[in-house]
Amino acid sequence: MHFESRGRIAVITVDHAPVNALGRDVRAGLVEAIERFEADAAEIAVIHGAGRLFIGGADISEFGKPPQAPFLPDVVNRIEACTKPVVAAIHGAALGGGLEIALGAHYRVAVPGAQLGLPETKLGVIPGAGGTQRAPRLVGAEAAIEMATTGTPVPAQKAVELGLVDRLGEGEALDAGLAYAEELLSQGAAPRPVREIAAPAHDAQMFETRRAVLRKKLRGEVAPLAALDAIEASTKLSFDEGLAEERRQFMKMMETPQRAGLIHAFFIERKVAKLPEIEGVTPRDVSAIGVIGGGTMGAGIATAALLRGLTVTLVERDDEAANRARATIEKNLAAAVKRGKLKEDKRDAILSDALSCVTSYDALSNADVIVEAVFESMDVKKEVFAELDRVAKQGAVLATNTSYLDIDEIAQATSRPSDVIGLHFFSPAHVMKLLEIVVADKTAPEVTATAFALGKKLGKVSVRAGVCDGFIGNRILSHYRTAADHMILDGASPYQIDKALRDFGFPMGPYQVGDLAGLDIGYMTRQRKAGQRHERDRYPGWADTLYEMGRLGQKTQRGYYIYDEESPRGRPDPEVEEIIAKERETQGVTPRDFTDEEIVERYMAAMVNESARVVEEGIAQRPLDVDVTLLYGYGFPRHRGGPMHYADTEGLATIRDRIRGYAAEDDHFWKVAPLLDRLADENSTFASLNG
Ligand code: NAI
Repeated sequence: MHFESRGRIAVITVDHAPVNALGRDVRAGLVEAIERFEADAAEIAVIHGAGRLFIGGADISEFGKPPQAPFLPDVVNRIEACTKPVVAAIHGAALGGGLEIALGAHYRVAVPGAQLGLPETKLGVIPGAGGTQRAPRLVGAEAAIEMATTGTPVPAQKAVELGLVDRLGEGEALDAGLAYAEELLSQGAAPRPVREIAAPAHDAQMFETRRAVLRKKLRGEVAPLAALDAIEASTKLSFDEGLAEERRQFMKMMETPQRAGLIHAFFIERKVAKLPEIEGVTPRDVSAIGVIGGGTMGAGIATAALLRGLTVTLVERDDEAANRARATIEKNLAAAVKRGKLKEDKRDAILSDALSCVTSYDALSNADVIVEAVFESMDVKKEVFAELDRVAKQGAVLATNTSYLDIDEIAQATSRPSDVIGLHFFSPAHVMKLLEIVVADKTAPEVTATAFALGKKLGKVSVRAGVCDGFIGNRILSHYRTAADHMILDGASPYQIDKALRDFGFPMGPYQVGDLAGLDIGYMTRQRKAGQRHERDRYPGWADTLYEMGRLGQKTQRGYYIYDEESPRGRPDPEVEEIIAKERETQGVTPRDFTDEEIVERYMAAMVNESARVVEEGIAQRPLDVDVTLLYGYGFPRHRGGPMHYADTEGLATIRDRIRGYAAEDDHFWKVAPLLDRLADENSTFASLNG
């Protein structure tokens, strides 16, 4: 923190790299600076941030520690109470507490490029230093609700339109602040505390509507609703009473397990790419990508690479397929243009210069990384890799997007297995954030490091996985899906299961996901694994029936659900229930009722149990790798932190007891995973293994 008196104007500089976070020293420094300003001859002060932004928000290194004075709300109040006018000059970002500091100032100027936001609910709390009381006084209740419940920042220009800042400046933020200060001086401007601005009138109807919409969208997440309540208080109570209500809501959120879940999710995302095996290993340079196969996945992978400035050579089997791939990619890029993610001229340049769709493998000779995304067949993949061995340049990374196949075996089809790795993207590959990086037996650390560097370049969250059937995500999925199928066999309906899991927080239930992906996928998997079937495995025969009837899911308008104009998102079908009832009869099962609670407990117990095995076998190196995988690839509700965090929250002994209970009926499917057993005995947690 620096204080500098420049004649009539004092300059207060927040200087705490890298993001001017509001740690104790910065908070204390701000109070001290305001006190010095009051004692100084200067008549107006400008607060600005050194470096690339104004103030990034709370100091995350203080999370979980006892708070230390001065507290942020007091700091903001102190700035606001300053006897001489204070200007905030904003560039880069003013987020969370950073924006609240700016709202404590009497005047605000922002320069283009600045983002102003209240993202607190993303970490499970609400703005706690007056943000919910001051923002509505400046921008109105609805815009404040939008900001505080979504956490999405607004750009400088929009902030001016909303009234969040007074004007758009030019050039450096400090210069813009000084110019504004000069002007205010010449006008003889006085302090103008936001608390003295009239709050918007209370509109009960609007709040009720907003609350209903949010509830539906949030699936159990509470912080955005608390933010809404606090904003409503600003329209009903005096400023100080409103502040007290904000504090009450804030403290309530601090106590929720959801906050712990969201913070866990936040930290593990930052930890997941920190791996000893690639520390200090220099990745190879990557600018040219080869993609083999331009179907669902290949076209998506190519799109992801093009959007991040890489060149792509895509190889298909014949001209028709190559043209089809190009058309899909064009469509994907057009959608990106429409969403404002890509400029039109940039799109044109990509299509003319950065993408070629061809039929000859020879075109891959310059590629730095080649990703294979052909049919899921070992024979086809081996042929492709033998061919790659012939055409790829030395040092090229040879990657497969296989979902289940043995990458060690694929690597053996080449003379350079150390260059072979799995890059398991999720569909749609240019949208989904997760990338499983599957390290095979012989993969060189440099190749793994290159894969992580590429993942970062593509904007993915990359997780290291080991080789097994399904790697981390699909392997665990297969297990909990089986638990769901068992519940159907025993009497639950797919619709009840989907609803129970949506209420738990998943965006879709497993049978909706099945319909979306296509029921042919599950059918193929059952065919592939038919040889490994155990006599005590309980078989979902109705799923084969649905497949045989051509009910493949959304793409055929019928799967578990019916999709038509009347119900584009699907409605239950009594015919499916009849098919299931018949299967129960065939298998001699007397159906029973399930509560939603039991459905969730069984589903989650299966997920946790298989996750524990995946960690114990080293397929995932740490529990956090499982959590990140399920959060970013499988729609696991973020406010629950991931399955391993969920298990820690429930208590490992509790989960184990449940599994023991289920095992009393079926000790073939339900066996307590040794790692879960040991940690439960030790009264320990999965988090203890995260390092
Ligand atoms: P797809 O059937 O949509 O596309 C495969 C493409 O590969 C076709 O266009 C085909 O013409 C082409 N192809 C086949 N043999 C070829 C060869 N020798 N040379 C050049 N092109 C060839 O399949 P999809 O869904 O894209 O799957 C591809 C791979 O990605 C599979 O290994 C699959 O397991 C995996 N995967 C699929 C996911 C999904 O959700 N669909 C998710 C993650 C991985």
